[in-house]
Amino acid sequence: MAHSDVRVSQKLSEAHTLPAWLYTDPEVLEIEKRELFSKTWQYAGHISQVQRPGDYFTIEVANKPILITRANDGEIRAFYNVCTHRASKLVEGEGNKSLFSCPYHAWTFRLDGSLHKASNMKGVENFDEKDFCLKSVRLEVQESFIFVNLDPNARPMSEVFGGLFEGLKKFKLEQFKKARVVETICHSNWKIGIDNYLECDHCPIIHKAFVQKLEMEDYEISIFDHYCYQGAPLKHLKGDSFDLGQGGRYYWLFPNMWFSSDPGPANLSIHQSIPLDHKTTKYVYTTFLRDEVIGKEAEELFAYDDVLRKEDRDICELVQKGIETGAYTQGRFSLTERCVHHFHLLLQDALQDVLPLPQAAASPK
Ligand code: FES
Ligand SMILES: [Fe+2]
Repeated sequence: MAHSDVRVSQKLSEAHTLPAWLYTDPEVLEIEKRELFSKTWQYAGHISQVQRPGDYFTIEVANKPILITRANDGEIRAFYNVCTHRASKLVEGEGNKSLFSCPYHAWTFRLDGSLHKASNMKGVENFDEKDFCLKSVRLEVQESFIFVNLDPNARPMSEVFGGLFEGLKKFKLEQFKKARVVETICHSNWKIGIDNYLECDHCPIIHKAFVQKLEMEDYEISIFDHYCYQGAPLKHLKGDSFDLGQGGRYYWLFPNMWFSSDPGPANLSIHQSIPLDHKTTKYVYTTFLRDEVIGKEAEELFAYDDVLRKEDRDICELVQKGIETGAYTQGRFSLTERCVHHFHLLLQDALQDVLPLPQAAASPK
């Protein structure tokens, strides 16, 4: 790992970007999985996936298998999808069950995570079934979206993303239905995708259709503690009170998740950026529509989104090509790249104790 870098300064006009090795070193990703993805709120799914008692689905967070259930008491819970006998992965996919039976020695678990039956344990001393419940994971439901956090001490989402969900309430997201899920692969480090999402300097150059639709003069950028907002209304509209679909609204949630709404029928897409390795990222775009019927307008929105996202992925792959050469070490920010700067500061803060990043100078006594 390189060590002779300039620290990302708090002051945008004099700040350098994060050093390039942070994007190219495979060891960094392992540290990010431990220090970032295992300690931050991650999108898990939509409440419609666990509507009835017994409904469950499985996901991975930081490569760890997680199980989401709705038990008979109506409670939605998250657990490590790991049997407490000999650690086998417990269940695959999604569905509805009254008990989870381990594929290895058939221990069974209830929907609330408690151990139901431990086969072949007769005569074992000091064995209390209560000590062998599935290991819980923090879970929150916000506006019908389910999020999990592997850090048992994580601050609640209302604190981390203060004001975000209150601000979204006016869009009545609980009325939205899941319309489609698209998965794509981008051959670039996950942070290149976030950097790209967090500025619109490239929009007039790369996203021609985007700038034709939106009133770019009114493009707004707001920065909050652990999220950023960017957005603009459709060309003939003014102000910032436009509904979802009447412009572009883009909320990024630290570190790797964003909520996007593009011109069209009232819509919201949750984007997850999931690193597969240090130079490959899987994007999962889950689009929700207020209107249940997928008509012509929705088809046009999907087509528009597909073009927009491909334009971004293509440019991210060019950045990856360049950054891998070693010819680029650190860049600078334009004054409109405020959100990218914010991301780099948050990342520097999260990783500076575990990676050889330049430290802040001690303050004079
Ligand atoms: S590992 Fe699950 S029952 Fe043995
Ligand atoms: Fe873009």
